[in-house]
Amino acid sequence: MEELEAIRIELFGKKGYFAQEFQRLKELPAHEKPQVAKELNKAKEELYRLIQAKKDRLLAQAIEEQLRQERIDPSLYDPTDFKGARHPVSWTMERIVEYFLSLNYAIETGPLVEEDFYNFEALNLPKHHPARAMQDTFYFRDGKLLRTHTSPVQIRTMERQKPPIRMISPGPVFRRDYDLTHTPMFHQVEGLMVDAKGKVNFANLKWILHDFLHFMFGEVEVRFRPSFFPFTEPSAEVDISCIFCQGEGCRVCSQTGWLEVLGCGMVDPNVFEAVGYEDVSGFAFGLGVERFAMLIHKIPDLRILFEGDLRLLEQFR
Ligand code: PHE
Repeated sequence: MEELEAIRIELFGKKGYFAQEFQRLKELPAHEKPQVAKELNKAKEELYRLIQAKKDRLLAQAIEEQLRQERIDPSLYDPTDFKGARHPVSWTMERIVEYFLSLNYAIETGPLVEEDFYNFEALNLPKHHPARAMQDTFYFRDGKLLRTHTSPVQIRTMERQKPPIRMISPGPVFRRDYDLTHTPMFHQVEGLMVDAKGKVNFANLKWILHDFLHFMFGEVEVRFRPSFFPFTEPSAEVDISCIFCQGEGCRVCSQTGWLEVLGCGMVDPNVFEAVGYEDVSGFAFGLGVERFAMLIHKIPDLRILFEGDLRLLEQFR
């Protein structure tokens, strides 16, 4: 474009070729003037047209080049046009994981189709235990089952690794249940910490769950209530002061002022024996993610978390 402009000025400028030529016309004999002038004008017109044509071509090329460089793909996903929302269960799961990652817990996973040994036997759940009954567990014909809790990942991790262990295991679990507070699939997060005998004690468990529950629910009261799980001894269930009535007593907490949020305890010696661990101590805990999500977001019916109704998600943008 610049070169062309220079040529244009050279030809048509005030002191350009044609200006000079027309100037020289005066010096010509009168009878030659019309003919030369006619030819000059013809050349001038022709060159003017050529320059204009070249200019148009260069301009078109420049635009094409610019379009090529700035080409956008309209089918491309635009991350700024974000119409979706985090599902409350995903959000809650991520927040739980975030807490334990900050304490350097490793994340472990295990199969959803589990063997009896990992789901029950190694966890000190004896053959006659009611949790093994057909009405509670989904069984396959070959004797495998859908894991009913994330505790089998404790066993798999201890089989794979030597102590010390510090891990959580988030994931889906399955039970034959369906009502206001139970769905056949829900999510748990398991926790396990194991080290040399005496290094991990109940006070450690209390401290960490206390801190964790404050991270999740804010300034609530936390209480440990004696309980039973076959794979922990002693065992406890952990309650927080009701976040709906601040402990006054309401429908959600059945007038008790407390909400049960997780199970925990010191790993039972029979569990360590099943994985061949000696001279160790440890704690374990397990919690239901949907229950946490329901409490945090005050969701009255567990089932709506699984119905895929966009009106639920729209509230969590
Ligand atoms: N697995 C137990 C359940 O599903 C929870 C739990 C895990 C309790 C670890 C104690 C220790 O209810």
